[in-house]
Amino acid sequence: MTEPKRLHVITWGCQMNVYDSGRMADVLAPVGYTPVPEPDGADMVILNTCHIRDKAAEKVFSELGRLRRLKEATGNRMILAVAGCVAQAEGQEILTRAPYVDIVLGPQTYHRLPEMVARATRAGGKVIETDFPPEDKFDHLPEASAPQGVTAFLTIQEGCDKFCSFCVVPYTRGAEQSRPAAAILREARHLLSQGAREITLLGQNVNAWHGEAPDGSTWGLGRLLRELAGIGTLLRLRYATSHPRDMDDDLIAAHGEIPGLMPFLHLPVQSGSDRILAAMNRKHTAETYRRVIDRLRDARPDIAFSSDFIVGHPGETEADFEATMALVRDVNFAQAFSFKYSPRPGTPAAGAGQQVPEADKDRRLQALQALLREQQARFSANCVGLDMPVLFTGTGRHPGQIVGRSPFLQPVHVSAGADLIGTESMVRIVAAHPNSLAGTLLQERRTA
Ligand code: SAH
Ligand code: SF4
Ligand code: F3S
Repeated sequence: MTEPKRLHVITWGCQMNVYDSGRMADVLAPVGYTPVPEPDGADMVILNTCHIRDKAAEKVFSELGRLRRLKEATGNRMILAVAGCVAQAEGQEILTRAPYVDIVLGPQTYHRLPEMVARATRAGGKVIETDFPPEDKFDHLPEASAPQGVTAFLTIQEGCDKFCSFCVVPYTRGAEQSRPAAAILREARHLLSQGAREITLLGQNVNAWHGEAPDGSTWGLGRLLRELAGIGTLLRLRYATSHPRDMDDDLIAAHGEIPGLMPFLHLPVQSGSDRILAAMNRKHTAETYRRVIDRLRDARPDIAFSSDFIVGHPGETEADFEATMALVRDVNFAQAFSFKYSPRPGTPAAGAGQQVPEADKDRRLQALQALLREQQARFSANCVGLDMPVLFTGTGRHPGQIVGRSPFLQPVHVSAGADLIGTESMVRIVAAHPNSLAGTLLQERRTA
């Protein structure tokens, strides 16, 4: 028996980091680590970092300053690890600036954590693991031990070969890689046995997935979704994040054929200007994007869309920005994320001329966000009076209330017993709030 130890993981960044944090806890479980909700007094703290925007590295060093004091309070017994995309990008720099850190590990090496911990516990041992190792980390991970709950993430694809002008991901996550279908189906079945009812397939470019099929052929994402839809008690499927270029015919058709594939798709477009899309190296036009949206709506008429936008990419003029606003008006999004362009060290756009002044970026972001907020509010308001299936995920804030997810990822609050958690029921939507809906239970469709 190994002595029980306390592990606290802090997660920043995207859904893939949330998944990775869970898997790091799984890897450390066999050597005695149990997750705890607070870092105070923990035997090990992992800071899982994101490098996508702004002063990512500065934020990491300021958080490390706080963790240093907690480490000292344990008589320096606490092992401090920095993981994720800042760890990958900064490597040695982290140990130079924060010598009290014990382990720096990139996103592709966390299956080696037990061995890294062993090395770090030897007097003064420092560990840096930021290579892209030849072995596949997924072949060396234990089965997920900590249940993720009613809704779960499953990474099927990692890395990116697209090299958009502004983006660090191809550098921090490495080349595109698809996991084999058999491994994905196995992990999905395991998640179901742990109580999951909705699975979100994850990848930096999840729809670029092309994995080895059990018969040795190669499947695309549409085929994989069909297989997953047929297993056990799985009710709902989603996938994120997609690239417009990889929405192939079969995947679009799958949206019309699989009822459990939720009618809500996050499809980042970044800009509505062809000039800027070209400068961004997105390799598609605004028109191709509109066309993909139309075809998805033909396949699944109730589908709603979410997107990502960047304002102020180098070279963006007022006319380019207006083209983005026009695209937003045409598509009509249910939800969206929008960001000011943030130069990332080592990316082509960071060194480009024609950087856009901060004041222009601010103004454009405000205008875009006002339009997107209006569309989101209208989408929610249009849900009032509709009956929709809600998958209940937990208890609400008020006694006697539970909360679930609509097909469009909106939180829905309902007065009902906690015994419905983990099941899907029809709900009539009675009110729309800025970030959630309220409904009344129509019928219990027991699905557990
Ligand atoms: N793989 C996904 C998204 C990856 S990053 C895709 O291809 O769409 C998530 C979002 O962060 C991006 O869609 C983009 O809108 C934003 N982003 C990435 N780099 C950025 C930068 N340098 N400045 C501002 N926003 C950025
Ligand atoms: Fe970044 Fe572009 Fe790759 Fe998305 S497709 S991860 S934005 S480089
Ligand atoms: Fe951030 Fe890395 Fe995800 S940079 S968005 S944590 S892939």
